[in-house]
Amino acid sequence: MRSQYCGELNASNIDEQVSLCGWVHNRRDHGGVIFVDLRDRDGVTQVVFNPDDAKSFAIAERVRSEFVLKIEGTVRRRPEGTVNPGLPTGEIEVLNQGVTILASSDVPAIPVDDESEVSEDNRLRYRYLDLRRSVMQNRLRKRSELTNSLRNWLTDNGFLEIETPILTKSTPEGARDYLVPSRTHQGEFFALPQSPQLFKQLLMMSGMDRYYQVARCFRDEDLRADRQPEFTQLDIELSFTDEDSIMTMMEEMIRQGFAKVMDIELPNPFPRMPYDEAMQRFGSDKPDLRVSLELIEVSELMKDVEFKVFSGPAQNPNGRVAALRVPQGGKLSRKDIDDYTQYVAQYGAKGLAYIKVNEIGKGVEGLQSPILKFLPDDVVMKIMAATDAADGDIVFFGADKAKVVNDALGALRVKVGHDLGLMEAGWRPLWVTEFPMFESDDAGGWHALHHPFTAPSVDSIDQLKADPGAAKSRAYDMVLNGTELGGGSIRIHDSAMQSAVLELLGVGEEEAKEKFGFLLDALRYGCPPHGGLAFGMDRLAMLMLGATSIRDVIAFPKTQSASCLLTDAPSVVASQQLRELGVKLAKKPGAEEKV
Ligand code: AMO
Ligand code: AMP
Repeated sequence: MRSQYCGELNASNIDEQVSLCGWVHNRRDHGGVIFVDLRDRDGVTQVVFNPDDAKSFAIAERVRSEFVLKIEGTVRRRPEGTVNPGLPTGEIEVLNQGVTILASSDVPAIPVDDESEVSEDNRLRYRYLDLRRSVMQNRLRKRSELTNSLRNWLTDNGFLEIETPILTKSTPEGARDYLVPSRTHQGEFFALPQSPQLFKQLLMMSGMDRYYQVARCFRDEDLRADRQPEFTQLDIELSFTDEDSIMTMMEEMIRQGFAKVMDIELPNPFPRMPYDEAMQRFGSDKPDLRVSLELIEVSELMKDVEFKVFSGPAQNPNGRVAALRVPQGGKLSRKDIDDYTQYVAQYGAKGLAYIKVNEIGKGVEGLQSPILKFLPDDVVMKIMAATDAADGDIVFFGADKAKVVNDALGALRVKVGHDLGLMEAGWRPLWVTEFPMFESDDAGGWHALHHPFTAPSVDSIDQLKADPGAAKSRAYDMVLNGTELGGGSIRIHDSAMQSAVLELLGVGEEEAKEKFGFLLDALRYGCPPHGGLAFGMDRLAMLMLGATSIRDVIAFPKTQSASCLLTDAPSVVASQQLRELGVKLAKKPGAEEKV
């Protein structure tokens, strides 16, 4: 039907006969002549309609935005003075010699251009129009190129692409399951996979050696800009390997993907940092290394001060008092500081103490802060020395349980860094390693920091049981510019160790058998040492393309409340369907049932 894409044409095509298909991007009637900008996936070309071809001209008079046309014509150089250097096709135009309207269009419900401000709800409701915009076309194209380049790399390196079930059993990754009622086994449910974790391990036990899958995962959890209820992982697993080889391979794969698709050179190698160091210096296990600010531990200095807000957490083994020096932050106004105080309150911080440094040479006299009166002068000056404070700076403080301080100051560090431009441009990947195996939960039990199949770095089950809180895991996360792109681990490949870990997590023998019996059985039949990881493809594409939300790199995403505005899913189902499934609603939804 067409000879070229609209956006492909340039001066090298002059005098060629072409046939183009696309949408009317806009139409301008200049008295005697009509210009139509015809748009397709590749770009826009200007088509000229002259009145001497009366039939075509009459059609051109009728067409409106988003009509679909087929054009036969000749490429010619634009007259002098009308060249548009901002447009790849700006040197040429196509003189129409025959036009067909392939489809008409109602007035578009949202404008199809990259300039208009359209609410996200409307963009999602009319997604097929939103996706016609060049910025969205480009995002989906680049995402496809990225997936393709990673696939090729994996294939070249001996990985087999293998599909695993979507209707399956619960796979614990820390979120709620999406459940599907079974008609043939009434009262029983499939769970949609939170990840293919157990199947990929079973594939290693099946001798497949190297596996990957572009896998859809489903998690019913609170949504944010970088989380969707269904999302895509590039899921990878390999046998007879260790964490160093996996990290080395995976960063090579990501480096080549960024280079091929975006011409971006990522550092080689990616730095690696133990979890404890990341928390200590950045208050986060996914630090944005572009931001130069760091947290400074001041617990020791605060232990004996009278100010209970500080000495309390300083004396508590689970507490932390940390300082964050912001160079030239002294210019922050009272209102700025109040805003930051509110910001950290979201993370549970009860306040945000600060000291402004006017003239450090004058000692405490040269400082300005509501908390100076609560602190001895020598302690204040030691803090100033510990943080390297200089004239014009501000030093913020967080004092609370270590988790609250890390969350609050960790987030503040990134926010202030962005607000005040205390960051470099570019790409700062890193691996975070040596995670704790367990976190203690509120009920005094243990909770797996990754998933329960991650191998601990211990020599024996006895060692693990003796001090679970001290055990590190063989897990690693890849972080890029403050976003966790992917994570994985070396897995437990011994049935007894797997049972011991499940037991520590409070999963009794019966429950373990019922939930993971198939895995525990398989582990007894010759399981190779294995490990792997999964990348969040949506996050990877979002970062690579500089989008602010993963919704912008997903063709048909869900809203913050996990619904689809385009199709209106989820929706009420007919009572007949529920009867067949043996499902009875506890409470009838407000909306009328659709039959
Ligand atoms: P994890 O749970 O860390 O590990 O997930 C891996 C990566 O998937 C992405 N991700 C998400 N992206 C969008 N929306 C979500 N709701 C969402 N949840 C996770 C993140 C994350 O780094 N089975 C393990 C991997 C392994 O051990 O091999 C797993 O699923 O980028
Ligand atoms: P208060 O005595 O509660 O008025 O607090 C004095 C100063 O300490 C104020 O600037 C508070 O914002 C700050 N502050 C209070 N609690 C904390 C906390 N847990 N961490 C850091 N600063 C705090």
